[in-house]
Amino acid sequence: MSGTMSKPTLTVAMIGYQFMGMAHSNAYRQVGRYFDLPCEVRMKTLVGRREDRVRAAADRFGWEGYATDYRAAIDDPEVDIIDIGTPQDSHAEIGIAAAKAGKVVFCEKPMARNLAEAERFIEAVRASGRPSLIWHNYRRVPAIALAHQILQRGELGEIRHWRATYLQDWLVNPQAPRGWHLQKEIAGSGSLGDIGVHITDLAQHLIGPVARVTGFLKTITNERPLPGSGEMAPVDVDDVAMWLAEFANGVTGTFEATRFATGRKNYNRFEVNGSKGSLAFNLERFNELEVYFEDGPAETRGWRTIQATDGCHPFMSAYWPAGHVIGYEHTFINTLKDALTNLTLGQPISPSLEDGLQNQRVLDAVERSAASRTWIEVDSGPT
Ligand SMILES: NC(=O)c1ccc[n+]([C@@H]2O[C@H](COP(=O)([O-])OP(=O)(O)OC[C@H]3O[C@@H](n4cnc5c(N)ncnc54)[C@H](O)[C@@H]3O)[C@@H](O)[C@H]2O)c1
Repeated sequence: MSGTMSKPTLTVAMIGYQFMGMAHSNAYRQVGRYFDLPCEVRMKTLVGRREDRVRAAADRFGWEGYATDYRAAIDDPEVDIIDIGTPQDSHAEIGIAAAKAGKVVFCEKPMARNLAEAERFIEAVRASGRPSLIWHNYRRVPAIALAHQILQRGELGEIRHWRATYLQDWLVNPQAPRGWHLQKEIAGSGSLGDIGVHITDLAQHLIGPVARVTGFLKTITNERPLPGSGEMAPVDVDDVAMWLAEFANGVTGTFEATRFATGRKNYNRFEVNGSKGSLAFNLERFNELEVYFEDGPAETRGWRTIQATDGCHPFMSAYWPAGHVIGYEHTFINTLKDALTNLTLGQPISPSLEDGLQNQRVLDAVERSAASRTWIEVDSGPT
């Protein structure tokens, strides 16, 4: 960390420059404009393997420079944070190298292709003694942060059910190309690790640790055309992941993740039912939280929709007047606001790669359960 007397500067290098590269770059650029941070952010290096492309991306996204090998960023003594926005096959490799060099690691989800790799990754992070971040940005949707507050305050009474679906439809077309998401060697798993991990993280954040699962995985389309050539290639990951769960606190849960739900674009929906009320959220209705409370006269009781855009709602006082909605990119800005603030103040970052590991343990248990057709206990605690 360097900087002036007033505010230290955190210098960042980011690996990967496509979808998440754009989302994170935008957040680094914007976070200090909306929030009064205790630090300055310096976007020093964007890393990608193709020089022409990474140079253009660095210029477009507002990075000072670029590199074609992540080791150059890790070896740079000015860099404080290595932010990993590549597919899963390089998360642990880059993250372990960064942790060994004493860097703070920010990493996209899922943290690794499988549990063994996640365990190697966390060992290096623990040994570094540095904080870490896993980009479970949905925790910072204001309506979801509000749901967290409602649950923390116990307003729903005793919690009985968690019900989550994460539905997309970009694989309905059998001609959709066999990209990296459909290769186990790169992605680790299919819907399970891609979007199932998001509802796993939300479940463990909102309800508590998952104790045991029984899972089912299925591949619907076994081969697809390679991008460019059109030649057919195998798909060796799950297209559909479903599981039942029991949380350590006794709450029951259901989970479904698929990219074959025709018409559903980003239907990350969950519902919580308690003895005194319920709440429900759907990412396609991003600014809203539905709530139901068992109070008042029975005739007028019912579900109502909170528009979580008021200054009293989490993060919203930094943005616009009530009703002036925000969007997907703000989840990354909000995540960074908390992470950079805590990093500067020497406080723990949440969610960290420890949370990533706990999510990975659930994914691993679902895979083992689907293979053995039995209930599997989820490990918890340090390995
Ligand atoms: N938090 C979220 O909501 C969210 C959303 C989408 C993707 N993701 C996660 O982000 C990660 C990246 O996904 P994406 O959609 O941005 O992928 P993408 O295919 O759009 O981009 C991947 C980038 O990584 C680069 N890359 C790949 N291997 C590399 C290597 N070894 N060294 C340097 N660069 C390399 C590619 O050139 C590309 O720039 C994945 O782990 C994915 O699961 C998270």
